[in-house]
Amino acid sequence: MQDSVVKSMLVVIVLTALLPQQGVRSASGTSAATTTYDQGKDIFVSRCAKCHDQDANKKLPDGTTLLLRLAKSKDPEARLGTRIKDAQERQEVMLYVQSLITRLRSSQAEQKAH
Ligand code: HEC
Repeated sequence: MQDSVVKSMLVVIVLTALLPQQGVRSASGTSAATTTYDQGKDIFVSRCAKCHDQDANKKLPDGTTLLLRLAKSKDPEARLGTRIKDAQERQEVMLYVQSLITRLRSSQAEQKAH
C-alpha cells in the first residue's frame, strides 16, 4: 500500500518535470501538453470553422475564401485581429493559419510545376 503511494508520487513528479513548459497554461484548463499550434487549431475549429471550415477554405459570399484572402494579405495577423481581440489567441490562431497558408502555397507551386 505505502509502496504504491510512493510510486505514484514518483510518477507525478517525473511527469511534471518532463512536461514542456510552453504548453503549461493553467488558466485555459486544457491539457498541459497542448502546443500553441493545437491551441490555435482548437480556437479556429470551435469558433470559426462553422463559417470558414476547419481549413479556412469555405467559399465566402464573394467567391474567395478566408484562406485565400489571408494568403494574399501582407499582414494576415492584423486581419485576424479584426475577429480575435485577444493577442495570445490571435498568435495561436495565426500559427495554425500560417500552416494552412504554407500548404496552400506549396500546392499552388506544385500545380505550376506540372
Ligand atoms: C457566422 C459566420 C462566421 C464566423 C463564426 C466567423 N466568420 Fe469570419 N467571416 C465570415 C464571412 C461571411 C466573412 C466575409 C465577409 C466579407 O465578405 O467581407 C468573414 C470574413 C472574415 C475575415 C476577413 C477577411 C478579410 O478580407 O480581411 C477574417 C479575418 C475572418 N473572417 C476571420 C474569422 C475568424 C478568425 C473567426 C473565428 C474567431 C471567424 N472569422 C468566424 C463569417 C464568419
